[in-house]
Amino acid sequence: MSLVTEARRRAATALGAVEGEAVAARLELRQADLAATLEQVYGAKVDAADLVERLVDRVLDAACSRPKPLRVLDRRREIDPSWFQDPATIGYVCYADRFAGDLSGVRRRLDYLGELGITYLHLMPLLRPRDGDNDGGYAVVDYGSVDPRLGTMADLVNLAGDLHSRGMSLCIDLVLNHTAAEHPWALAAAAGDPAYRAFYRVFADRELPDRFERTLPEVFPDQAPGSFTQVDGVGWVWATFNDYQWDLDWSNPEVFDAMLTVVLDLANRGVDVLRLDAAPFLWKREGTDSQNQPEVHLILQALRACCAIAAPGVLFKAEAIVAPQQLTQYLGAHDRFRPECDLAYHNQLMVTLWSTLATRDVTLARQSLTNLRPAPSSTAWVTYLRCHDDIGWAVSDEDARAVGLDPAAHRRFLSDFYSGAHPGSFARGALFQLNPRTGDSRISGTAAALCGLDAARSAGDDEEVAIALRRLLMLYSVVYSFGGIPLLYMGDELALPNDERRAQSAGQAEDNRWMHRPRMDWAAAQRRHEPASVEGRAFAGIAGMAAARARLAVLQSGTGPEVLDTGDRRVLAFARRHPGASGLVALANFSDDPVLLPRETALPGLSLEARVVQSSESTELTAYDVALPSWGHAWVTDP
Ligand code: GLC
Repeated sequence: MSLVTEARRRAATALGAVEGEAVAARLELRQADLAATLEQVYGAKVDAADLVERLVDRVLDAACSRPKPLRVLDRRREIDPSWFQDPATIGYVCYADRFAGDLSGVRRRLDYLGELGITYLHLMPLLRPRDGDNDGGYAVVDYGSVDPRLGTMADLVNLAGDLHSRGMSLCIDLVLNHTAAEHPWALAAAAGDPAYRAFYRVFADRELPDRFERTLPEVFPDQAPGSFTQVDGVGWVWATFNDYQWDLDWSNPEVFDAMLTVVLDLANRGVDVLRLDAAPFLWKREGTDSQNQPEVHLILQALRACCAIAAPGVLFKAEAIVAPQQLTQYLGAHDRFRPECDLAYHNQLMVTLWSTLATRDVTLARQSLTNLRPAPSSTAWVTYLRCHDDIGWAVSDEDARAVGLDPAAHRRFLSDFYSGAHPGSFARGALFQLNPRTGDSRISGTAAALCGLDAARSAGDDEEVAIALRRLLMLYSVVYSFGGIPLLYMGDELALPNDERRAQSAGQAEDNRWMHRPRMDWAAAQRRHEPASVEGRAFAGIAGMAAARARLAVLQSGTGPEVLDTGDRRVLAFARRHPGASGLVALANFSDDPVLLPRETALPGLSLEARVVQSSESTELTAYDVALPSWGHAWVTDP
C-alpha cells in the first residue's frame, strides 16, 4: 500500500473521511520534499525510503491524535494561509515569570496585552531547564514538561486555549541545537550508552576539536571560550554556547526523529509558533564557521514538511542572527523555493536602526536594506528593536565599504557609542562578550536606555527625556510599519530602564544580558494612562501605532517595502504598496534637527489627498512639504 493510501485509511478511521482525505492530501503534497531532503542529508547513512516511512508513521500518529479545537484552527488557517500576515498581527515577547509570576499569572494579564493590540504572545523558554545556571532557560532537561516554577503542561495547554479564544497565538522556544548536559540523552551518553553517545559530538582527544576551532568563531568568548568542553570520562564534547549546553549531532537521523517527536508534541499542546533557537548551528563542517550549512536548510525543510502534514496551522520561526547574505534563505529563499520557516527575525533592520541612531545618517541603512534578498511572499519577517539577547553588529563588510565606512571601525564605534564611552553619547548600555583577540563586542541594555532615557532621567533633564522618548517611538514606528510581524519587547511600552538590581541574582551578574531582562514594573504600568508620565507617553505612542497599523491593509506582510531616497541623509523613508490598498510612505527622522522635505521627494506616488495617519507630535503635512521634528516620524497614506 502506498504511504498516501495508508495515511488516508488511518486518518479516516481516527478523524472521519473528510479529515482523512485532508491528511492524505497534505502528505501527497509534502512527500516529495520530505523524501528529497532526507535523502540528501541522511542518504549516505541509512535507507532514506525507510526513514521516510518511519517518520511518516510518527507524523500520522500526531495527526490522528491532534485535539479537535486545534484541527478546527488548522482548517481556518489552511483556508486563509496568510492569517499571520494580517496587519493586525502584533507580537509581545516576555518571560512568563518576569512578566506575571507564572503561566497562570500570564493568563490573568491578557487584558493588558489587549490594550496594546497584541495578537501573538512569545513566551521565553519555559520547558524544564537544568538546575542552576541555564542560560535563561536555553538548557533544557525535559522537552515534555514545563519549568515547575512556571506551572505545568496543563497550564500551558490552558493558556494556549485562552489565547485562541481571544484570536491570539502562542509562540514558544524550541532549543534544537543543544540540550542541557543533564538531559537524559546526555546522561546516557556520558554513561557510555553508544546510541546516545551518537546523539552528541564527542571526541576522544583534541585533534578534531583543534582542527574545527581553526575556523570557528566563539559565541561567548568571555564566559565560555572555545566550542568544546572537556568532560571527565567522556572526552571533548561539542558545546557551542555554555559548557552545560551540549550540541546535538544532527547528522544522526535518530536525533532528527527524536526532535520531530518534540515538535509534534508541542504542536498538539496548542503551540502555534515554534521559535527554532540557534538554527544556523545545526550542522558542522570542518574548514567553515559551521553555521548556515546547506544541510541546516534541508533539515528545517524536512521538519517543516512533517509538521505541515500533522499540524498545518503551526508556524516555524527561525532564530538566525546571521549575516544579511545568509538570512532570507531561512524563509525558504533558495534557487528553488521550498517551504522552510514561515517567520524569521529581521536582524538587519534591527541592527541598522541602532547603527543609524548613532550615526544620524541613513546611507548605510538604505544600502543594507535594499541589498537584502526579499522575503518570499508566503512568509513574513518579524521586525523588532530589542530582544532578550545582546545586539551584535551584523553589518556586512560589503555594505559598510559600499558607503565608505571601515567595517571594523564602524562596529567598534557602535559598541563605544552604546556603552556610553563615545564622547557625547546619550546611550547607557554595556559591552557584552568583548573578545580581546578580535576587539569585537556586542551591546546590552534596554531600548529606552540605549535611546538616552536613563541618562536623561538621572540628569533630571525633562527636555532630554522628551527627546529620548521620541527616539524610542521613532524606532518603533519603523518596526511597526516596515512590513512583517512587529514584536514588542516587554517593558519597552513603558520605556523601562536597565535593571540595576540584576547583579544581586545568582548567575545573572556574569551575564549582563540580564540588564535588559527586567521584571515587569506593574507600579510603573499603573501610570500608563497618565498622559504626562514617561510611561503614559511611551504606552500611548506604542498603542497608537498598533491601532493605526491594524487599520492599514497596506501593511499586510506578503509584500516588502521599497526603501526610498529622499535626498536627505537624516531621513529613513520607505513606501509600502499592496494590491487593493492605498499606498503608504513611512518617514523617520534620525537627527537632532527638525527637517522639512518637499512633498514630491518625500512622498512619491501619493496624491495631494494623502493624510498623516500616525506620527510624533508637531509633524505637519502641507500642500508643499512635510515637516518632522527632531527624531520624529510619520506614516502618510492616501485615503
Ligand atoms: C539563542 C538565544 C540565546 C541563547 C542561545 C543559546 O541565540 O537567543 O539567548 O544564549 O541561543 O541557546
